[in-house]
Amino acid sequence: MDAKDGSSTTPAWSEEFSVYAAEDAYVQRRQFTKFLVLTSFGMVAGQAWIWMKSLAARPRSEWPEAIVAHASEIAPGTVKFFNYPTDTEPCILVRRTNGELSAFSQKCTHLSCAVYYARQRDRLECPCHEGYFSAASGRVLQGPPPRPLPRIKIELRGDNVVATGVIEGEEA
Ligand code: FES
Repeated sequence: MDAKDGSSTTPAWSEEFSVYAAEDAYVQRRQFTKFLVLTSFGMVAGQAWIWMKSLAARPRSEWPEAIVAHASEIAPGTVKFFNYPTDTEPCILVRRTNGELSAFSQKCTHLSCAVYYARQRDRLECPCHEGYFSAASGRVLQGPPPRPLPRIKIELRGDNVVATGVIEGEEA
């Protein structure tokens, strides 16, 4: 398109989106190349992100110790929620119906929904896709979760329940 003064005023969009059918193939090839470049860049960025996350997820040699509950306050068949090893990682401490204490990350290993303790069935259940875990070991009993729940190591020191580490679940 030419302006009245004779200068070319071809709009920028027409370079990207041709109105001539004969140029369609050229435009599509160029757009496809752009798509490839952007996709490749996205994949490289994604790989870098995954690599950085894997560094953060490496097993720690030292875990913090934290008092997470008083044993006397948890009756059989009840739970206490706490955060460990940081304030943003929810966990569940279970006093099973047989009196044993066990603790796990509360995040389901499928898509991170919060698990809860089903007292009647003595197991941890995820309401999102019916993933069930053993309340004794955290291993998967049923459903889509690919790994057991990470287990929180706990020690009884007097009446204090002390968290001392995390044992990541093995691959199913
Ligand atoms: S998020 Fe728990 S089973 Fe899917």
